[in-house]
Amino acid sequence: MMHYLPGEFSHHLALKGLKFLYFTGLLKLFAHKKDSNLKFKNRDITHLNAKIGIAAGLDKNGDYIDCLAALGVDFIEVGTITPRPQTGNPKPRIFRNLKDRSLINRLGFNNKGVDHLVKRLKRKKTQTIVGTSIGKNFDTPNDNALEDYLHCIKKVYEHSDYIAINISSPNTKELRELSHGENFNSFLKAIKKIQNQLSTDGKYVPIFIKISPDEHSNDLAIICSSILDSKLDGIICSNTTVDHDHKNGPGGLSGAPLKNKATECLVNVRRLVGNKLPIIASGGVMSAQDYQEKLDAGANLVQIYTGFIYEGPQLIEDILNLRKV
Ligand SMILES: Cc1cc2nc3c(=O)[nH]c(=O)nc-3n(C[C@H](O)[C@H](O)[C@H](O)COP(=O)(O)O)c2cc1C
Repeated sequence: MMHYLPGEFSHHLALKGLKFLYFTGLLKLFAHKKDSNLKFKNRDITHLNAKIGIAAGLDKNGDYIDCLAALGVDFIEVGTITPRPQTGNPKPRIFRNLKDRSLINRLGFNNKGVDHLVKRLKRKKTQTIVGTSIGKNFDTPNDNALEDYLHCIKKVYEHSDYIAINISSPNTKELRELSHGENFNSFLKAIKKIQNQLSTDGKYVPIFIKISPDEHSNDLAIICSSILDSKLDGIICSNTTVDHDHKNGPGGLSGAPLKNKATECLVNVRRLVGNKLPIIASGGVMSAQDYQEKLDAGANLVQIYTGFIYEGPQLIEDILNLRKV
């Protein structure tokens, strides 16, 4: 039924429903797994393996952290958040293709701003690992983008278990350009520098770079080598793809048709970085088998988004059950 409502409306309705079930205690009937991360003594995500998380974008503002944690996932990535609140692109901007089990979105970082997210992170009750995805405001030119990222890092650092640098959304004009050209090295080095400064009081927060699945192999090699050089902590592979028929206009494609492309990107990244960096796989995980396929292709951790929209909490349940056997 929800699948026949407009994309973004049903998305909000589902999250509000989840919140209702959580606060009334009914969620336990649907998801009998408890908030699972209480069992991790070591919360350092770079040392965990074969864990399942919610990808960035589902809970952009951190408004649903405790509800999502109650579904039993091992980690949640909130955001992408920008320094200032922004409304994103005009609606409609989420399109479903039920036959393909895919989504096209061109949301454009609609979010309530980093200060709102920080309040939510401070207020959360769960011990589940929470990473924060950060980006730049749409009206910040690329020449000043670094300032937006540094601003967000400083704000979220103390309250996040890891930080994801989103330079791969196709829906913010020229965002993907940040990972191309000479400035990418200095961009990453500046991020490493602020991480070093902020970690002097003992809390080290790993920083991952989320990349696009649309990179040509030469660019991918340069990007991976820059990330290795910078000594940042990991790679999220990958964001949505712009490789689709554009019947609904521009946007990023996610879900089943993205799987092979994202896995191919993952295999290439693993070959390029060897065992030097952990990789979080994202893209087209619609079943427990797809989750296993990402691990077999070289991922340490796996995220879901579109699969969760189509399959609901059952997908998490299936993946957790697969791990038991
Ligand atoms: C509606 C929607 C919004 C998204 N928003 C973000 C975002 O804000 N930041 C981000 O890094 N990725 C975002 N993504 C990308 C997802 O995190 C994920 O990487 C991508 O959808 C591929 O995984 P999937 O096929 O399991 O959905 C979004 C995806 C969708 C469908």
